[in-house]
Amino acid sequence: MKVQEHEPLSAHTTLRLGGTARYFVSVTSIEELREALTFAQEHAAPLCVLGGGSNVLFSDAGWTGLVVQIALQGTEYIEDSKGDARVTVAAGRMWDELVAETVSQGLWGMENLSGIPGTVGATPVQNVGAYGVEVADIIDWVEVLDLTTHALHILSLSECAFGYRDSVFKHSEGKKYIVTRVAFRLSTHPKPIVSYRDLAAFFADRTEVGVQEVRDAVLSIRAAKFPDLAVVGTAGSFFKNPIISKRQYDAIAHTFGAVPSYPVDAQRVKIPLAWVLEACGWKGKRIGHMGCWDAQPLVLVHYGEGTATELILFADQIRHDVAARARIDIEPEVRIVG
Ligand code: EPU
Repeated sequence: MKVQEHEPLSAHTTLRLGGTARYFVSVTSIEELREALTFAQEHAAPLCVLGGGSNVLFSDAGWTGLVVQIALQGTEYIEDSKGDARVTVAAGRMWDELVAETVSQGLWGMENLSGIPGTVGATPVQNVGAYGVEVADIIDWVEVLDLTTHALHILSLSECAFGYRDSVFKHSEGKKYIVTRVAFRLSTHPKPIVSYRDLAAFFADRTEVGVQEVRDAVLSIRAAKFPDLAVVGTAGSFFKNPIISKRQYDAIAHTFGAVPSYPVDAQRVKIPLAWVLEACGWKGKRIGHMGCWDAQPLVLVHYGEGTATELILFADQIRHDVAARARIDIEPEVRIVG
């Protein structure tokens, strides 16, 4: 285990922002992970767990403790005679590399989640979702390491308490866990989910689609909406889509017109914040080194040479504007650290 000191966090995050980590280590085995935890205890260094760095914004002050990058590797497939498959994957594997592999084997389940940056271990934490599927729909169990005992445990689907961009790992009772492996349920039987607006439009009146075709469709839809990570810094959607009461919805629709809405339960709906941002004139807007992407205003981008403080101020301006004009409190989707 090699501990680096004063490591720039901008090099480990897709937003390319943030100060330095006092200590930084990349762990490739459970033993190394335990060693890292002991190091943190011995140095009284607060711990921060990092995956692919694609959903995190570190402050300019950085992290005064130890940042542990989870680089655990390993994938196992088990297929039964009925065509069900289970794939168990170490947390450090790049998510989209896994999706490409399962799809190329003709396994259904992950194809709608194609093209998402980051690691496998990060997917249950924020219950990654796109194009009508969330990882919670295909997760069987999650293996975690308990920070207090250093022992490994298996958490069932219900113990993960998944919600929209939410899980036990985002709440105090789950903060003592580090995700080390995730088991997914996949199938050789075709199970296309193509009702999400963009996918339905892509396939139009097609009734039969292949798993590789769904992946390719998602990749091409994403390519039109998301900036190229090689060109600008971004962490995808910066805010969550708001879940509001039907009464609030009526007030917003009165001001902004026919905002799309998706039912959540009897009283609440979810609305696309991108729609509200576009109506408020944020789409394509740039202030200094930060901006709202011109093909998708929910995606905030860093054009280079900026600071984390600048992005936080830019996001605050958006938050205040939406609160003032649409009377909605919006929450970041990106994890803001430090
Ligand atoms: N829209 C506009 N103007 C735009 C773009 C979108 O009005 O310029 C409206 C349209 O009504 C559109 C709707 O917003 O139908 C939804 O847009 P989109 O399909 O791009 O999805 P989103 O709700 O903005 C969510 C996830 C994304 C995920 C997409 C696709 C959140 C916070 N974001 O975005 O996830 O890729 O759906 O399923 O739920 C991420 O979490 O980082 C992320 C990118």
